[in-house]
Amino acid sequence: MLYFMNDYSEGAHPKILEALVATNMEQHVGYGLDAHCENAIDLIKKRIGQPDAEVHLLVAGTQTNTIALCSFLRPYEAVISTELGHISVHETGAIEATGHKIIEMPSKDGLLKPEQIDKACDSHVDEHMVLPRVVYISNATETGSIYTKAHLEAIRKKCDQRGLYLYLDGARLANALTCDDNDLTIEEIAALTDAFYIGGTKNGILFGEALVILNPELKSHLRYTIKQRGGMLAKGRLLGVQFEELFRDDFFFELSKHTNEMSKLLRSGIKALGYDLVTESSTNLTFVVLPNPIHAVLSKECYYEAEKPFDENNIEARFVTSWATPKEDVEKLLKLLANYKKIYA
Ligand SMILES: Cc1ncc(COP(=O)(O)O)c(C=O)c1O
Repeated sequence: MLYFMNDYSEGAHPKILEALVATNMEQHVGYGLDAHCENAIDLIKKRIGQPDAEVHLLVAGTQTNTIALCSFLRPYEAVISTELGHISVHETGAIEATGHKIIEMPSKDGLLKPEQIDKACDSHVDEHMVLPRVVYISNATETGSIYTKAHLEAIRKKCDQRGLYLYLDGARLANALTCDDNDLTIEEIAALTDAFYIGGTKNGILFGEALVILNPELKSHLRYTIKQRGGMLAKGRLLGVQFEELFRDDFFFELSKHTNEMSKLLRSGIKALGYDLVTESSTNLTFVVLPNPIHAVLSKECYYEAEKPFDENNIEARFVTSWATPKEDVEKLLKLLANYKKIYA
């Protein structure tokens, strides 16, 4: 079988496991107060150019979004997101369960437009409605698209005009920042947002996301919220050790460069074969219009996500590469797609 199901289907890069083994018998204090967490946080603060940032190492994406948003919002406040936002569709109502409405704006490409922020604010006029307070975006988005610097600056400007905080979900931040179409740096992401997180789970570590809070107004008692929401890992050192490896020598970016290269190769091959893409992606998610008969045979040889029907003759298939995807597997998949195209097209 070939594996194009996800970017977290493997365990972790051997370098991460080696670091965990090498530090295994060290004795440390718990709950993220150990020397490895401190060092990892220092490395992150240096790399993003924000010595005053507050950084918390957490376990998973949904947990990070929930802890961040429920801590940033007052009880009557709401978060603006696209309808494709991970918090809107794939977090089981986690944000709503904390009592906060998500104001969803329509989107095909996963990117929030600055004018949609105006629309969301203008349609919430008084205390009989929720008060929009945070804008949630993700980079890369759930469709694999990315924010340009101009786009992110326009969103920042709009947030400032409307008195909103900007929070960026970076589950796949490494992929966004190392793809060919990107013109943003991690320093600029930190300068343009009030808070964001750096995703590790989908970029070569066993688990872990680093929540970075930049705006002093949002730094209030976060460790209390983390603990109350079950996010304070007794063996927090495991997060520290892993993030130390990611942010020593820019390993974080090295891993995602390979991931993106493999998707680029896959996409150009798929296009050359005459398959249509559902959406344009710059990163490691590729959505393909796959004829039903080809899906029927290909799914026996390759794992990928059959997202939903595209129309009565095709499905929408999602192919994902990771730091561990071998080039030979991309070539094998393209060969299968070429053969099936000849037989079934
Ligand atoms: C953009 C984005 N945010 C958050 C998450 C949630 O991560 P987790 O599954 O670790 O809760 C994901 C996972 O797919 C994601 O793609």
